[in-house]
Amino acid sequence: MKDLTKLSDRIFYVGVNDRMKQLFEGLWSLPLGVSYNAYVVCGERTALIDTVDACYTGRLLANVRERLGDRPLDYLVINHMEPDHSASIAAIRQVYPDVRIVGNARTLQMIGGYYGIADGTVEVKEGDVLDLGGLTLSFHLIPMVHWPETMVSWCAEERTIFSGDAFGTFGALNGGVTDEELDVEPFWTEMGRYYACIVGKYGQPVQRALQKVAGLDIATICSTHGPVWRREIGRVVAMYDRLSRYEGEPGVVLAYGSMYGNTEQTAERIARELVAAGVKPVVMYNLSTADLSQVLRDIFRYDTLIVGSPTYNGQLYPPVESLLSKLSARCIPYRRFACFGSFTWAGAAVRRMTEFAESMKWPMIGAPVELKQGYSTAVEPACRALAEAVAADMKS
Ligand code: FEO
Repeated sequence: MKDLTKLSDRIFYVGVNDRMKQLFEGLWSLPLGVSYNAYVVCGERTALIDTVDACYTGRLLANVRERLGDRPLDYLVINHMEPDHSASIAAIRQVYPDVRIVGNARTLQMIGGYYGIADGTVEVKEGDVLDLGGLTLSFHLIPMVHWPETMVSWCAEERTIFSGDAFGTFGALNGGVTDEELDVEPFWTEMGRYYACIVGKYGQPVQRALQKVAGLDIATICSTHGPVWRREIGRVVAMYDRLSRYEGEPGVVLAYGSMYGNTEQTAERIARELVAAGVKPVVMYNLSTADLSQVLRDIFRYDTLIVGSPTYNGQLYPPVESLLSKLSARCIPYRRFACFGSFTWAGAAVRRMTEFAESMKWPMIGAPVELKQGYSTAVEPACRALAEAVAADMKS
């Protein structure tokens, strides 16, 4: 039987799949699971690159042991310290007491802070090379993708980059390991969701990282999540490039909250008018029930956002407030923005959304639609005017 974990004669996949966890970081849904990828590199000396989530330490150890047999593990390279990758460090040290842990100064500080390990470490700096005997790893810092200690390891002899979370995606690996072996279609939408949720705030650091690796003649990308990329490297890099530039393609996300259906009816009307004005696609989300990771994914994908909210306790409706705070945290530099809102006795939602747009420095398109009490056809001309303003701006 073909050994799919053998990526080359000298590089081996030893990661695991997680189809149990429901929320990544306790926040983001995992309908297709997630993989925690780790790799063994074998020269005359051996290295393990990254580890896995604490729940899967036993499987990682079994995978490493199966690969190494009686050989010692000489180095453990830590590209990224978030515990979904670093949680097995202490166990590795227990099983391989002589292993030397390789990281940059920030990494080593975090290893001390998280796991109380301070000895048997090797500090590396930008461009340093670790000679494994017939095979080398060089280290390149890519801070804030998406933690400050993050680095990538480059194996020039195998033209393989171990990229940490960069180029990662949600989605467990169903049998295969590389994009040549897997059905990759589900990973494209999962990559958009992963990027928007996990890395979305750090567009500029991702751009700097892309520039840093642009000069490398990469044949294989070994990320910490998702497939090992070979055939689709161009598409993966292009996707990270586009997302980190915050470039939206033409389309509208219409996200709203509604308690008793009046704001929702306004949303439906605006959507109808948008499509009648020739706008497509229009993607709608009721924020009380939507998966926020999907909403964020689509806001990263499309260039126009329309938000609707009832006034609630003199503020925005909480699910709307939650979305706007996540957008604010992601520092998205530009989206075409329009809004609508409702109230019963004192309006606040439209004012708060207008303030949000000002704080983001996003242009407000059209006059906000503001509904007092129940929905009626009287509001429809304002909905049409808003939709037509958005359509005209998109065409311009
Ligand atoms: Fe997959 Fe930032 O850890």
